[in-house]
Amino acid sequence: MIALIGVAMIIGVADTRAQTPSRAVWDGVYTPIQANRGQDIYDKSCAECHQADLSGGGDEAAAVLRGPDFFAKWHDASLEKLFHALSNMPKTAPGSLSNDAYVDLLSFLLKKNLAGW
Ligand code: HEC
Repeated sequence: MIALIGVAMIIGVADTRAQTPSRAVWDGVYTPIQANRGQDIYDKSCAECHQADLSGGGDEAAAVLRGPDFFAKWHDASLEKLFHALSNMPKTAPGSLSNDAYVDLLSFLLKKNLAGW
């Protein structure tokens, strides 16, 4: 949980910096290195259902993980809730990845959503 606490502390910092209002909460909470590691994990463990471009669908009707609807749904929730949701993945083996891997995945999702869509 230490890594998650680290993320939460950085959120506090990002919050006070408040740049673009709609992005303030998520801004600057991940590092590019975390996000890149997250991308590798995503490609191996998540893309088969959520698709390489995070568009979801497929046989399992996996959720969309990018775009206005996803952003709207999670932007006002705490990152902890989003972290919890992805800790219940992959659907076929919930919680099977390491805590660090879920932090990296969270970083990857933030990067993808903050980069625009
Ligand atoms: C076997 C298919 C499958 C795999 C693999 C999978 N998911 Fe999912 N995921 C789903 C389905 C189906 C849903 C929607 C229903 C549910 O939550 O059970 C979902 C929901 C989610 C949600 C909640 C989205 C929302 O807006 O409610 C997140 C976040 C998520 N997945 C992330 C991941 C991540 C990260 C991985 C890789 C570690 C992953 N998933 C792997 C099928 C999958």
